[in-house]
Amino acid sequence: MILDGRKTADELNLVLKEKVSLLKSKPRLEIILVGNDPASLSYVKGKLSTTEKLGMVTNINYLDEHVSEKEVYDLIHSFNHNDEVNGILLQLPLPKHLNSEMLMESIDYRKDVDGFHTINQGLLFQKKAGIRPATPKGIMMLLDHYGIEIEGKHAVVIGRSQIVGAPISKMLLDRNATVTITHSKTKNLAEITKQADILIAAIGKAKFVTKDMVKQGAVVIDVGINRVDGKLVGDVDFNEVEPIASYITPVPKGVGPMTICALGYNLYELYLKQRG
Ligand code: GUN
Repeated sequence: MILDGRKTADELNLVLKEKVSLLKSKPRLEIILVGNDPASLSYVKGKLSTTEKLGMVTNINYLDEHVSEKEVYDLIHSFNHNDEVNGILLQLPLPKHLNSEMLMESIDYRKDVDGFHTINQGLLFQKKAGIRPATPKGIMMLLDHYGIEIEGKHAVVIGRSQIVGAPISKMLLDRNATVTITHSKTKNLAEITKQADILIAAIGKAKFVTKDMVKQGAVVIDVGINRVDGKLVGDVDFNEVEPIASYITPVPKGVGPMTICALGYNLYELYLKQRG
């Protein structure tokens, strides 16, 4: 069965739109986009169009690729101190001359819609309330929407990034899954992934997960967005794996729309925390 991220996101966005309509003012997101990377531009436009449909305000701040670090820092600083701004998103990757880590940390964690700030990551790892990174949050929302049981299941995560692999592992653990985290140095990877009841592929390699790596009846979540000959391809070889999986996300229209949906929910949560 296909886990339809597009349809699920549409349904959850409808619920969020209703909640937003009851607020006294519109939640406002400021996106900072440096340079003109086409993939980043397309992600940012997706975020803009979804949040606008939800009745929120999103501004994209287009900065030249040669912008100085101080200019980006000052812009973030001004948003941190502007009560009208509820969320700030610095689109990654940044050009090499800019210190991404320093700039991401300079965002007030109470406006960190991505949930990437050290404080928000710390809150996650201490199992305390905080903003969760949008992709793992969207995956959890998708699993829950389809009523997929997590407790007691063996979840295997391929990839250990700060954005997806590490946080999704902790979120699955907190829902009482038994979690194995694998990565590029893991030996006998297929032996481990074959034990997964829930398999999360977040490595960024096109069609990396093949049918010999997947147990019959597994739930397969494909986080990959790889461009091959102009076409979007996931980290899972969909055609091979789909017949043996119980549930599987397609690429596109799987995890992608859920990430943007979760981002909308994050902005709403930030607004509520700021306005009480
Ligand atoms: N670049 C690709 N995905 C993301 C994301 O979710 N947040 C930010 N800030 N940059 C990204």
